[in-house]
Amino acid sequence: IRTRIAIVGAGPAGLLLGRILDTHGIDYVIVERKSLEYTLGRIRAGILEQGSVELLERLGLGERLRREGLEHRGIYLQFAGERHHIDFEKLIGRTVTVYGQQEVVKDLSRAHQAAGTAIYYEAEDVALDGIESERPRVTFRCRGEDVLIEADYVVGTDGFHGVCRPSIPDLEVYDREYPFAWLGVLASVRPSTDELIYALHADGFAMHSMRSMEVSRLYLQVPPDENIDDWPDDRIWEALHRRLGVPGWTLDEGEITDKSITPMRSFVASTMQHGRLFLAGDAAHIVPPTGAKGLNSAIADVAMLGEAIAAGYRGNPEPMSSYSRRALSRQWKTQYFSRWMTAMLHRDDRGDSSEYDYLAQLGQLRYVVESEFAQCSLAEQYTGLPYGL
Ligand code: FAD
Ligand code: DHB
Repeated sequence: IRTRIAIVGAGPAGLLLGRILDTHGIDYVIVERKSLEYTLGRIRAGILEQGSVELLERLGLGERLRREGLEHRGIYLQFAGERHHIDFEKLIGRTVTVYGQQEVVKDLSRAHQAAGTAIYYEAEDVALDGIESERPRVTFRCRGEDVLIEADYVVGTDGFHGVCRPSIPDLEVYDREYPFAWLGVLASVRPSTDELIYALHADGFAMHSMRSMEVSRLYLQVPPDENIDDWPDDRIWEALHRRLGVPGWTLDEGEITDKSITPMRSFVASTMQHGRLFLAGDAAHIVPPTGAKGLNSAIADVAMLGEAIAAGYRGNPEPMSSYSRRALSRQWKTQYFSRWMTAMLHRDDRGDSSEYDYLAQLGQLRYVVESEFAQCSLAEQYTGLPYGL
């Protein structure tokens, strides 16, 4: 198969890049290891930055998003039994939208189906070859047949455990682990809050998010090696009541329909391009979830990369050659924000300075809710930094 762009990975990054290339009339093929059903069923992120929403709308993917997405003008920060509202709209005139990653993937998949995109699902033994040559290749097996794709460029949107990043020789990586994980549940109950609550409690972090007016999404900080079997529903609700409770407010319970533990890490690859291979999204970088930047970073990358590829085919190679520098420049700011939010809102109870650290975090949170400057900074980063030119 001969195509211009071979995209490896049909997560949000790969599917969205395809739609951007469509608007420029650039042909491409997508290769995905899992089945369509599997990619549609993964429950992950839930918050879209304003820039992510605007991009999806520009690409004609905004119809259901506008109808079912919940626009939020701020968040609540909670600590020491007090709940404070941070009003992004009032502070900087920007908002975020609650719309699940699986809904974004569903909308993208439908658009691809309607457009007749060539997507090879359930591809086995996906491998890259010749990324330093003029004619890079992607090979795989699909339904018992060997397939070879010859492209002008290969884009790795194959997530953290994909094959593209490891094919860059001498790649440096920068990473950091955290002494906690998130236990996340989906519950069939109307959210007990109008906007997200991020809470620091002496027992650890808790968050009340949502997916719709009928479905709540709740998270608890747990130790990184925690076993989900040790968390029956009763124990989860009890911890959520304790950590999220404030006087005069009640958390409504509902049936828990999904339960999982997500480890937390920060990770950045030293480059997002090598020869004719480009990386985007989780293939190149990971953030801890506090601040909701994983999906939004993937969207920002492909927004920049799609335009860069289009410029390249119009005879201007500069945006492509500067892609890695621009994407990493934005990503390192996002890394900092995610680490900052994580450190501010989680309880690290190892070591001698644990009590000191907790009290200093309370001081930090109090500063944020009392300083309009600090709130503007949080609002600017939470609603999304501009894409790099
Ligand atoms: P992915 O969504 O990982 O997509 C990569 C695709 O490539 C997958 O479909 C995969 O099957 C495919 N693939 C992998 N290897 C190969 C291969 N060898 N060949 C072909 N295809 C391959 N972010 C938040 O902001 N908030 C959250 O609450 C949040 N929760 C998360 C929970 C979990 C359990 C996980 C794993 C991530 C979470 N994230 C969250 C992060 C967010 O979901 C990711 O940042 C986002 O999915 C990145 O999109 P992507 O397209 O780059 O990668
Ligand atoms: C959600 C996840 C996040 O990481 C976050 O900061 C806010 C919301 C969510 O899944 O709803």
